[in-house]
Amino acid sequence: MSEPNFGFRPGEVILITGAGSGIGRSAALLASAQGLQVSAWDLNEAGLDETARQIRVSGGEVHTVLGDVSAPDVVAQGIESAIAELGPVRYLHNNAGPSAGAPLGFEEALRISVGSVRTLTEAWAGSGLPKGAAMVVTSSVAGNLVGTEVDWYSASKAGLMGYVRHLAAHRAAEFRSNGVAPGMTDTPRLQGFAESARGQAVLERIPLRRMASPDDIANAVLFLLSPLASYINGVFLPVDGGWTVTQ
Ligand SMILES: NC(=O)c1ccc[n+]([C@@H]2O[C@H](COP(=O)([O-])OP(=O)(O)OC[C@H]3O[C@@H](n4cnc5c(N)ncnc54)[C@H](O)[C@@H]3O)[C@@H](O)[C@H]2O)c1
Repeated sequence: MSEPNFGFRPGEVILITGAGSGIGRSAALLASAQGLQVSAWDLNEAGLDETARQIRVSGGEVHTVLGDVSAPDVVAQGIESAIAELGPVRYLHNNAGPSAGAPLGFEEALRISVGSVRTLTEAWAGSGLPKGAAMVVTSSVAGNLVGTEVDWYSASKAGLMGYVRHLAAHRAAEFRSNGVAPGMTDTPRLQGFAESARGQAVLERIPLRRMASPDDIANAVLFLLSPLASYINGVFLPVDGGWTVTQ
């Protein structure tokens, strides 16, 4: 199958956090296949190296930042080095976020999940954005359409959409902002879920009867970032196989 044409110009730069696994890796590989240069960020060195390797093997350009996106110095230095190496960053995919299973307290989790997105978005916005810049957050159906058992996970994913709506309303002269909301997505953090009794029960309520693949989510992210979506600003886009309409 030939690559879909999202209308990106070859050589433009996309920055993706959490690019060492799952949805972020898919977004990085699909973006590279579109001719974009990728600044891939992750705190997991092995995962990040593997994403970079796959991009290089297919002839793409990649720059990596190994570090925790919730650390402001990592963000400041990362943006600086991305621009020095690849040029101005037009597209930002704020994707990294802790798993609901992470042993975090409420305030710390919100600082990491929501605070890091604000810190990076502000640093990016202050870096001299090219015209047509756009940002997408990986939010979730959690918090926005369904309540999770873990309090901070729902609060942070809903909080991210609140931040997106603020940006869409007040920063549109600089960049467009949207949120993608995966449902159950087959990434390493949900390994074994589809086979579990709980997973089977969830799958029965998903009209498409399968989990999302990471590419299902990444394609929606690329669309929202792309010139094809140039009049889409402030939306919450569930990519959940229809799961939430059956709730
Ligand atoms: N998998 C799902 O079903 C699902 C559903 C809804 C939303 N999401 C969201 O999608 C995003 C990606 O999740 P995934 O399923 O691809 O998970 P994943 O675990 O496969 O990948 C996440 C990557 O992010 C990195 N990361 C995490 N925190 C980081 C930090 N502070 N700094 C730098 N890197 C960091 C991890 O090292 C990992 O490589 C997350 O925000 C998650 O909440 C996932």
